[in-house]
Order: sequence, then structure tokens, then C-alpha cells
Amino acid sequence: MKTVKLSANEEDIKKAAELLLAGEVVAIPTETVYGLAANAMNKKAVEKIFKAKGRPQDNPLIVHISNLKQLETIVSEIGDIQRALIKAFWPGPLTIIFKSNKSVAENVSAGLDTVAVRMPNNKTILKIIETANIPLAAPSANVSGRPSPTDATDVLYDLDGKISAVVDSGQCKVGVESTVVSVKDDRVKILRPGIITKQQIEEAIKKEVEIDELVYVSPTEESKIISPGVKYKHYSPKAEVFLVDSDFDFFNELVSTKKNALAVCFNGEKPKIDFIEYGEYEEDDEKARKLFAILRQADKRGYSEIYFRLGAKSGKGLAVYNRLLRAAAFKVIKQKNLIVGLTGPTGAGKSKAAEIFKSEGFDVIDADKISRRVIEKNLIKIKIFDTFGLDIGANTKQERQKLADKVFATKEGVEKLNSIMFPEITAEIEKYIQKKTAFGTHKFLIDAAALFESGADQLCDFTVSIIAPLKLRTQRIVQRDKITEKQAISRTHIQLLDEEYIEKSDFVIKNDKTETELKTEILKIIDKIGGKNGY
Ligand code: TXA
Ligand code: MG
Repeated sequence: MKTVKLSANEEDIKKAAELLLAGEVVAIPTETVYGLAANAMNKKAVEKIFKAKGRPQDNPLIVHISNLKQLETIVSEIGDIQRALIKAFWPGPLTIIFKSNKSVAENVSAGLDTVAVRMPNNKTILKIIETANIPLAAPSANVSGRPSPTDATDVLYDLDGKISAVVDSGQCKVGVESTVVSVKDDRVKILRPGIITKQQIEEAIKKEVEIDELVYVSPTEESKIISPGVKYKHYSPKAEVFLVDSDFDFFNELVSTKKNALAVCFNGEKPKIDFIEYGEYEEDDEKARKLFAILRQADKRGYSEIYFRLGAKSGKGLAVYNRLLRAAAFKVIKQKNLIVGLTGPTGAGKSKAAEIFKSEGFDVIDADKISRRVIEKNLIKIKIFDTFGLDIGANTKQERQKLADKVFATKEGVEKLNSIMFPEITAEIEKYIQKKTAFGTHKFLIDAAALFESGADQLCDFTVSIIAPLKLRTQRIVQRDKITEKQAISRTHIQLLDEEYIEKSDFVIKNDKTETELKTEILKIIDKIGGKNGY
């Protein structure tokens, strides 16, 4: 078959629409990646997509529409959340899963009773759909398992001779495929991350959004697969891909001995071997736009290995991370961090101890400070007000006081608040560590009064508790906070007992000592855990 090369002018758009109406497959641009399109209502036409791509039959396709009437013809219901998503993000790179009314060809949904739909934000494809006046089923226009194509040349590299035509309208703006979300019983879940982020979706629907675990890990036999696409080999160039989660020096050292390898690093860095820059550490659009093109370029230049310096893993960065994990078959090379957790009841001398760790080169992470930031986040606020039956609209000083009274009145109240705050705080700490690691910090101290209660101890290699006799602690609190002994005692009641600290931590310091003695003890611990050199 000869593949016709079309451009995005009116005449060629008409030709593309005619081919599609005649049951042919045509590669067309979207804002994310190029798609391989066919009439979604025509089973035979859709079959040709599977054949050209070598796509497994049980992997369903996304249906592309240009107006909401088309949506109504293929789904059986549109819920409130789905409506809100449509309003916020269409046309745009968000795919929403709906209950199907079974009018699309059965192979589009690959046997599921749902159908994935999106309205792309690209003039050319929208015009093609309008002209043909049919919804188009379209997966990415690559041979199954290969990186998605972001320009017409990449499409032809994979599919020349296997498809009727390709419509060339230049480079795709986004570069990674759409965010895919499922909505089930009012629960929204991201099945595939894209440039539209969890945070953006949450802001739009004022509701928490989950991320499917398969975004991060390779599916096992047991894992429940909601989106069949995740179980297949993906985005793989011929070269073997490795991800490196480290600072630049470690990365450079690692790649310097590699033969016939390409290093992919952040802008401005200069590795010792051939390299391509792909953006900044922080989530940004540049990495997404360049990712697939780099994988393909490496193949064309004949490299046998590619080493990616890993950037931020959240926000837009999650889309890039998710694709890279698959391209690398989950191979991540890590530079080792030393993370120590420090805790203890108030008045035992935790802050003094943190200062000593700091003077020994540890980057001190103050969980208290992070929690004050977290509580100011909109979604967290909404959740807290919701949980305690208050109206976020009335966010005045008095309302806040009312909230505080409600929360702290009972143990259950505090526990409820903690269950909202702790996961957020831990996630923030993790993000902070990742970022600092990429730029050369490897010794961290998490200073957290509720280290164990919050689960932040899970991030630590070692935990240290500072305890002290109750009497001494009370004296210290009275001195420090200029309060009465009675008030001081009431503060000591809400914390863990000494036995609990002793049971849970790797090291315990009984701090009835002078500052010099405390320092000597801490230095001994740092020595034991190998925190003196090499970090
Ligand atoms: O940006 C994009 O989404 C691009 C462009 C061409 O629009 N398309 C794309 O399609 O990436 P594809 O086929 O490469 O990926 C579709 C993903 C797969 O992971 C598939 O399993 C999932 O969407 N999917 C499709 N229908 C589904 C359904 N009914 N339920 C769950 N997942 C579905
Ligand atoms: Mg694909």
C-alpha cells in the first residue's frame, strides 16, 4: 500500500475525511501525539488499526470527537463529574471513560462496557472530524510497543506502506498522550497521567483524585487492570533505557564509562559522553515535548544505551516519569541517600539534637513547618472543613476558631485531622528530598514530633528518639515557653510514652545531659550509621 502524504490545507483535510468515510486508516495530528484514526462506528475499519500497529486485541482505543452531540450518540450517561471535567478541559488532552451505549464498533472498547472519549485541542483533527462527521477511534500512530510519534516523519518511520495516508501538520504541542481518567461511583482515578495534572483536576471538580498504582509499578498477575494498555511493553526504543535518580556528579560519573551510550540531562549540564538536554528538573512542558522524539533519535543514531537523568515525579513530571519507567522497563539506578528521622516528646531536647545533626551536614526538614504550609492548601482546607461539618465559604477568623475548638475537643477529632494531614506532609517531605537529591544533597534529617504516627518514619533509614524524665521536660517547657507548670504538664500528655519511643526507634538518647554530652552521643550514632563520610 502506498501511504499518501497530506498536508493540513482544506483540500487535503477533505481527502483525509473521504478516506476515513471509506473505511481506511489515516494518521492525523492531535495536540498530544499523532493518532492512527478510523471510523469508530465501523468494525472493519477499526480492525485495520489493530493490524497496522500490531496492537493486542484486548487493548481498547480512545474515541475522538469534535462536539458534544457526538458524545451523546455513543455513551449511555454523562454524570455530573464528567460534565465538570468536560467543561474544564475540553477541547484538550483529557480522556474520560464513560458507560458505552454500545453504538461504537465492539473492537473499539475491546469487550469492555465502557468507552474512552476525548475532544482534542488541535484544529486539523477537529476539522477532519467535522468534515467526516463521524467519531474517530485513534490510538497513537506507532507500531505497538514503540515510542509515540510527535511528527509525521516519526509516523512514517513506523507505518509507511501500512496505512492509507498521513496528515502532516508539524510537531505536536504537548508530546505525551492525554491524561486518562475513570469516574466510578463519584470516585475519579487517573489511569494514565498526562499534562493535565491531578492537582488541576482536583481544582476543577473540588474533589480528591486518586492515581492508579499501575502508574508507578509494573503490573503483576494479580493487579487489577482497569486500563488494559498498562500491561503491555511500551515506548521502547531499540536502545536499552536506564533512569538515574541522583545528582549530576553521580550521573556524570556513571555515564562516563559507558560505550555507545547517550546521556539525557537537564539544560546546561555537560556530561562526558554524547548528550541531549531535555528541560529543567521541575515539572515543565519541555521534557514532555521532547521525550519521545529523543527516544527515536537515539535509535536513528544507533546508540545501544540511553541514560536519563530523572526529574520531578509529580505534577506534569508524573507524565514524563510514567513513560520513562515503561521505556526503561522500570530500571532505576539510585544514588543512596541517608535519611534519619528524629523525634521525641516536647521538652526532651529534639530541637537541640536537630541543630547538632545540622552542624554535621544534615539537611534538616522541619515537619512542623511543612504542616503549616500543607494546611494552607485549598483542597486540604476544604477536606478539613468538610470532615468537621463546617462550611468552607465561611472561612473567617471566628469559623477557624470554631474549627479549632471542634478538632481539639476530642481525641477522635485530632485523629481525624491527622488522617488528612499526615499523608500530605509525608508526600511533601518526599518531594523535597527528591528535588534536593537531584542537586547534590544526600544527608537528610526529618525532624518530626509525630514521626511514627505520621508514617514519615517509613522514609527513613534510621530513626532516633530523644527522651527525658518527665520532671526535667516540664521544667524545660516552663522555661522555654514561659508558661505555668500545670500548662506544661498538660502538653506532655498528648504524646507517646517513653516505652513506645524505645520500642519504635533504632536509637534512643536519654537526654538528662549537658549539651556537650548530647553532642557526643549523636556523633557516635552518626558514626555508626555511616553518616560521616561519603555523602
Ligand atoms: O493523547 C492520546 O490519548 C493519544 C492521541 C492519539 O489522542 N491516544 C492514545 O491512545 O494515546 P492509545 O491507544 O495509545 O492509548 C489509549 C489508552 C490505553 O492505555 C487504553 O488501555 C486506555 O487508553 N483505554 C482506552 N479505552 C479504555 C476504556 N474503555 N477503559 C479503560 N482504559 C481505556
Ligand atoms: Mg499508545
